[in-house]
Amino acid sequence: MFEKTLLAGRNILITGGGTGLGRSMALRFAELGAKLHLAGRREEPLREACDAIRAAGGAASYSCCDVRDFAAVERMTAEADAATGGIDTLLNNAAGNFIARTERISPNAFNAVVGIVLHGTFHATLALGRKWIAAGRGGNVLNIVTTYASSGAGSGYVLPSACAKAGVLALTRSLAVEWARYHIRLNAIAPGPFPTEGAWSRLLPSGDWEQRWKDHHPMKRFGRHEELANLAAYLLAPQSEYVNGECVVIDGGQWLRGAGEFNNLAELPESVWQQLETARKK
Ligand code: HXC
Ligand code: NAP
Repeated sequence: MFEKTLLAGRNILITGGGTGLGRSMALRFAELGAKLHLAGRREEPLREACDAIRAAGGAASYSCCDVRDFAAVERMTAEADAATGGIDTLLNNAAGNFIARTERISPNAFNAVVGIVLHGTFHATLALGRKWIAAGRGGNVLNIVTTYASSGAGSGYVLPSACAKAGVLALTRSLAVEWARYHIRLNAIAPGPFPTEGAWSRLLPSGDWEQRWKDHHPMKRFGRHEELANLAAYLLAPQSEYVNGECVVIDGGQWLRGAGEFNNLAELPESVWQQLETARKK
């Protein structure tokens, strides 16, 4: 679909790049010629993802960083610049999420998710945006949201994430206008369900729920990582230069069948909620 040099010469920072969709996008961007810098809290997945990129002939480095901490993000972006020669592209992909009945969550649980998703996205965007503006060099930002943000519907049972992702979409569209004069463009992708360990372990209440979710999907299948990675590559490529402030949904038509991906957890029996809550407290 793409020429192998599509992203040649590009230096891309991916938050949450050591696992799941971030890792898959990192591998794809490296294949298309980009140099990668990956950030996350845990070193092991970051090192493994960098090794995988290098083994495939690409270039990658990493920094351990909690995106909730702005000073740590500033240090991380300095490391990323030093390792790559200057980051020109940011993929805000790091996230936190869990299913819970909202009346049972604590303010700290809300803060944990909003801190990662909304503040983390703002921190990385601000740290790099300031540098790009000062250097007059332009830049590219891609934010990963969800269909419960792009639909405007939100979703029950993932309230902190729904609030945070809606904020990320507002950030995307607001800065797309404000920073266009600096040749910085911002877009978002709203993925439907794409199997990853991080999401599946936190968002599926039980094994049979996965099949139920698939059966209810218009295409009867989940997304493939390469489908998302190719869309992301297009949105970061120079060929999509005039796409700015857009949010592209990639969900096989799922949200059109009923917005608010997790609203049907209303059918989850009290006993299953109690099992989940007990398991978490062990
Ligand atoms: C209720 C919960 C909870 C749960 C944690 N908490 N899990 N409350 N139900 N299942 C509460 C804790 O009790 C604590 O509050 C507070 O949240 C912070 O929890 P910690 O474990 O101390 O925080 P931390 O280590 O920072 O972990 C953050 C996290 C965790 C968000 C809770 O899940 C995480 O690290 N996630 C990162 C990866 C991730 O979530 N990936 C999935 C993204 S998928 P108290 O008051 O007790 O201190 C995604 C896709 C959506 O976003 C769409 C899919 C189709
Ligand atoms: P994932 O593998 O759990 O990815 C989340 C990543 O964020 C991890 O690498 C994690 O690494 C990092 N992270 C979490 N908290 C962090 C923090 N405080 N500082 C820095 N990094 C942090 O899950 P995923 O499914 O691939 O999700 C990737 C993105 O896609 C997220 O934005 C998610 O909301 C979005 N999304 C996923 C789906 C899906 O179906 N999978 C659907 C819609 C949207 P550490 O834990 O090591 O920090």
